[in-house]
Amino acid sequence: MRIVPTIAELRTALAGAGPVNLVPTMGNLHAGHLSLVSAARQRPGRLVTSIFVNRLQFGPQEDFSRYPRTLDADCRLLESAGCDLVFAPANEEMYPQDQEYKLVPPAAMADMFEGAVRPGFFIGVCTVVLKLFHIVRPDAAFFGKKDYQQLLIIQRMVAQLAMPIEVVGCETVRDNHGLALSSRNGYLSAAELVEAAELRRTLRKVASNVRAGAAWPDLERRALESLRSRHWQPDYIAVRGRADLGIAEAADPLVVIGAARLGGTRLIDNYEIP
Ligand code: PAF
Repeated sequence: MRIVPTIAELRTALAGAGPVNLVPTMGNLHAGHLSLVSAARQRPGRLVTSIFVNRLQFGPQEDFSRYPRTLDADCRLLESAGCDLVFAPANEEMYPQDQEYKLVPPAAMADMFEGAVRPGFFIGVCTVVLKLFHIVRPDAAFFGKKDYQQLLIIQRMVAQLAMPIEVVGCETVRDNHGLALSSRNGYLSAAELVEAAELRRTLRKVASNVRAGAAWPDLERRALESLRSRHWQPDYIAVRGRADLGIAEAADPLVVIGAARLGGTRLIDNYEIP
C-alpha cells in the first residue's frame, strides 16, 4: 500500500490504473470506515482511501483542533483491509490559498437539520468532496448512511453536475448496544457509552409508531421530551422522505433522523422505516 501526500504523486500513481474506487474519510478509522473499504474492495480496480481533516466543514466553535489525527494507526488498518493507496494531503496541499471557490448546495436540502445546527457545514463538505473527486477521479465513491443528509446531498451534487461517479451509500455499523460507530464516540465516558444507544432506540420507537399510524408531530415531540428527560439535549428528531429529507406522505419511503448531544458529545443517527 502506498501513502501519497501530494496531488501530483496521486495522479502519477493512478495514471492508466483502470477503475478507481474512493473512500473519502477524515481518518481516525473504525469498523464503520472499514465496512466502506470492504464494500469498495468488492469492485474491480484500485482502492484509494483519502484521509483529510477538512477545516472548511468545521464551524468556529467546533472541534477541528481536537479532532483525532491517527494516520499511522489508520494506515495499518487500511493495509490489512486491502487498500491500495492512501491519499493523505496536508492542509496546505488541499488549500494552498484560501478556498474562495466553494460549492453551495441547495438550501432546501442543506440548510435544515445538520446544516441548521452547523451553518456552512455542507458547503465545506461539498467543496472538499468535489475537490477530492477532481483529484482522484473515481468511478465509485463510498459513504456511510449514518450521515444520511450528507449522503443525499453528495448524491444530488454528482447527479446535477453530471459527474460520472457512482455514489454508494453503505449501511451503518453499530456496536453491541446498537450505537452507530463514529469517531466522536471516543469522547463519551463509560456511562455515556451505555446511554448513547438510547438515540437509536428512540428513533426505532418513532419508526414503529409511524407504521402504527400515529401522528408524526406528536411522535417527534414525545421523542424529544423522552431524550430530554434522560439528560440529552436533542437538536432534532424528524420523520422525512428518504429521497431528499423533505416533507413526505405516509406512502413514501421514510426515514427518521435525529441528532442530540449527550454530555459534551453530539451524536447523529437515523432509522429507515421499513
Ligand atoms: O463524512 C466524512 O468523514 C466527511 O464529511 C467527508 C465526506 C470525508 C468530507 O470531509
